[in-house]
Amino acid sequence: MNILVTGGAGFIGSHTVVELIEAGYSPVIVDNLSNSDPSVLQGLKNILGKDIPFYQEDCNDYVKMNKVVQRHNIEGIIHFAAFKAVGESVAEPLKYYQNNIGSLLNVLNVMQANGIRNLVFSSSCTVYGQADVIPVTENTPKKKAESPYGNTKAIAEDILEDTVKAGLGFGIISLRYFNPVGAHPTAEIGELPIGVPNNLVPYITQTAAGVREKLTVFGNDYDTPDGSNIRDFIHVVDLAKAHVSALNLLQKHTDAPYYNVFNIGTGTGNTVLEVIDTFEKVNHLKLNYEIGPRRPGDVVKIYGDVEKAAMEMNWRAAKTLEESMKDAWRWQKKISNL
Ligand code: UD1
Repeated sequence: MNILVTGGAGFIGSHTVVELIEAGYSPVIVDNLSNSDPSVLQGLKNILGKDIPFYQEDCNDYVKMNKVVQRHNIEGIIHFAAFKAVGESVAEPLKYYQNNIGSLLNVLNVMQANGIRNLVFSSSCTVYGQADVIPVTENTPKKKAESPYGNTKAIAEDILEDTVKAGLGFGIISLRYFNPVGAHPTAEIGELPIGVPNNLVPYITQTAAGVREKLTVFGNDYDTPDGSNIRDFIHVVDLAKAHVSALNLLQKHTDAPYYNVFNIGTGTGNTVLEVIDTFEKVNHLKLNYEIGPRRPGDVVKIYGDVEKAAMEMNWRAAKTLEESMKDAWRWQKKISNL
């Protein structure tokens, strides 16, 4: 089955390409490389022993997308391609709405024109905001997004649900990711932030590698056991496998319109300081860090109830935070030539 992977050169997309091949699917990558590097394709080749078809195109380009879909007889799409920097989205909301919503609409139009039924969409736990009760389940009410980035995910989910409901022949799953971390255990692919990383784990690994002088922990006066924020850190390989499970599930629901959302996390929360501590322990090093002020817009704590994915998709995260921190550091050492 030929699967189009938009954003397939990105962090989660590239790991998903590996899992798709291992599960017997045939992925085709479309990526405009706006936030990824062509070296990822070599990394994929080193893992998989073959080239994956790749097109450097923008998902907003209907004509180009249509061509790829027809050339490869695409039967399902995983749509990762999107901008994801929360702070940038506050400064440039139109750029975010245009790209994230525009490309989704374009993908849906291309699907409809070509009779492609199945879509897996990258959503985020950001749709819950600071939930009143954690762990959050898929029925936890969505809250008004804190950022335009978060709002693009919330709006996208509504667009997808409405589209399925209209009975146009779609089967769609939105996966609400928690915090993806780690890298492929081969260290052939991993996270490649351009410029200064926004996210915690690439900032940790770059600090350990000497690329950054020190990590700032954004607040230790929150209402949590050690005062730092709590997140659900999931190994990117586990997260990638969830996309294979979602595609498999979609194929069991081809007789009627189908829409579903799943939390994709570990089900466990860890504090920022616990992550740092784990990174230091498993890699036998000391990290230069200091406690700084809170970062505006951060939720205090969130982690997911993941039983729905276990029950309905037969998927569960298997890797530990220790493995994530080892794999993240192995990858950083490779790209820093350490
Ligand atoms: C957020 C969004 C997520 C989105 C992601 C994209 C939420 C709950 N999650 O993740 O949906 O996909 O941004 O970038 O809104 N931290 C530090 N120092 C640093 C960097 C981070 O202390 O230098 C802390 C943050 O305060 C936070 C935790 O580490 O508590 C994780 O931060 P980050 O990796 O940026 O992810 P989120 O903000 O959770």
